[in-house]
Amino acid sequence: MEKLFDQWAQELQELILEQDRKIFSPQVIDNYLKPKNLKEVSNPDGKGIVTGPCGDTMYIGFKANQDRIVEIGFLTDGCGPTVACGSMLTQLVEGRTLTEAAAIAQEDLLRTLGGLPESHLHCAKLAVDTLLRALKDCQDRGGEPDAQR
Ligand code: FES
Repeated sequence: MEKLFDQWAQELQELILEQDRKIFSPQVIDNYLKPKNLKEVSNPDGKGIVTGPCGDTMYIGFKANQDRIVEIGFLTDGCGPTVACGSMLTQLVEGRTLTEAAAIAQEDLLRTLGGLPESHLHCAKLAVDTLLRALKDCQDRGGEPDAQR
C-alpha cells in the first residue's frame, strides 16, 4: 500500500511539473526545485522582511565585507516563482557591491529568469523590494558593514 502511495505521489509530482513547464521557463523551474541561498544569515549586516500585496512574505539577509556582499540568504512562505526569484536574485547580487545590488531592477531579475507570467510579476517585485529593504537597513546601520561587527 505504501509503495502504491509513493508511486501515485511521484506520478502526481511529474504531472504538476509537466504543467509548470508549459507556464514557466527552465530557469524558474530549476531555481524553485533547487533554490540557492535558501537560508537565514546569522548576524546580518543588512536584513529586510517585506510582505507583498498577495500576502506572501520574503526575508533577505546579507553580510558584507567593505562594500561587497559576501554572504546572502533568503526565506519565503510564497509560491514557487517567489522561491525562484529569491534564489536568482541572491545569486545575482552575491559578490557585488551594495551600490551595484541596489541598481538591480525587477526587469533585470525577470530577464534573467526568462520571464514570468503576468500573474506572477509581483513575485519578482517582492524579491527586489526585500533586497532594497535589506540594503537600506545596512545603510541605516552606518553603511560600513565591517564597522558593525
Ligand atoms: Fe505571492 Fe508569488 S504569489 S509572491
